[in-house]
Amino acid sequence: MNNALQPVRIAVVGTGNVGSTLAYALLLSGLAAEIVLIDANRAKAEGEAMDLQHAVPFAHPTRVWAGDYADCAGAIATVIAAGVNQKPGETRIDLLKRNALVFAEVVPQVARHNPEGILVIATNPVDVLTYTSLKLSGYPWQRVIGSGTILDTARFRHLLSRYFKVDSRSVHAYIIGEHGDSEVPVWSLANIAGMRLQDFCAAQNVACDAAAMDEIFRQTRDAAYQIISRKGATYYAVAAGLMRIVEAIVRDQRTVLSVSSLVHDCYGINDVCFSLPTVVSRSGIEQVLRLNLNEKEAEALQHSAAVLRKIRGQLAVEALSH
Ligand SMILES: NC(=O)c1ccc[n+]([C@@H]2O[C@H](COP(=O)([O-])OP(=O)(O)OC[C@H]3O[C@@H](n4cnc5c(N)ncnc54)[C@H](O)[C@@H]3O)[C@@H](O)[C@H]2O)c1
Repeated sequence: MNNALQPVRIAVVGTGNVGSTLAYALLLSGLAAEIVLIDANRAKAEGEAMDLQHAVPFAHPTRVWAGDYADCAGAIATVIAAGVNQKPGETRIDLLKRNALVFAEVVPQVARHNPEGILVIATNPVDVLTYTSLKLSGYPWQRVIGSGTILDTARFRHLLSRYFKVDSRSVHAYIIGEHGDSEVPVWSLANIAGMRLQDFCAAQNVACDAAAMDEIFRQTRDAAYQIISRKGATYYAVAAGLMRIVEAIVRDQRTVLSVSSLVHDCYGINDVCFSLPTVVSRSGIEQVLRLNLNEKEAEALQHSAAVLRKIRGQLAVEALSH
């Protein structure tokens, strides 16, 4: 299906804030020759497609249209950002159940029309929905990728870069585990130019106290709450992260990204989707990297896996596939 002679097609399901921002970033990048937008609200997808089409003369020749699931055929990747928003007073698990029902409708249709493609999941709670998508699609695990902590890692690097006054691209630090409250900062391996943060602090004569680092992690973990309380949603950074995942796939870059996928045999953790630094290529997931964590980090990762298992238990993922 995905041979080199076919135009690069990317499908986006869910053309709300996140999906339409991704489509815009894709269009400006020139990465895709074809972008198909699918949404339960057909008029919304059509409106976004028309608006994007009018940007083509300023960007790259790209075919953009509002389509149906049949148009996922031949897409290299289908990004799913479809979902419902939390109602006032609604619990996290109720939201998950409603979004899982959306996925029970969306994922089998994508998989039927595009059995060879790669799924990239953005809808929250992203780790549980990545696991759900794996079950619903029947795809091999290497072709189901959740955006996971790609955004949290970007926020972490940004805040560290501000503190240490270096380009965020020169800060190598990861947030792993759940995209959510139990996520884990890997302080023991964080570095700038291969220098541990303590050594970098000493060399720069900068304070590197624990309280400042704790505050950086707190701001990383709680960033979404801060943004949502001000503008109602977050979408630019996650769309840039999704863009990065799609680019690594389309260009076969073998980029290391903190994305969510099915993890086995990692500090005693099995059968959970969450984030670890992962090599992403045209095949999807090439390799999930096992980090050499310290004891505290390994325990925090196990806790994160337990949190995700508990949420998943409440959902009864298997029931959705029948
Ligand atoms: N993973 C991350 O880091 C991250 C960051 C930000 C947002 N998100 C998540 O992304 C999701 C989308 O956020 P948003 O702000 O774009 O929401 P939104 O409400 O703006 O858009 C959701 C879209 O999904 C569509 N939709 C609903 N049910 C559908 C169905 N059954 N089939 C097809 N389309 C359907 C809606 O019509 C709507 O256009 C949310 O779950 C949000 O929490 C994830």
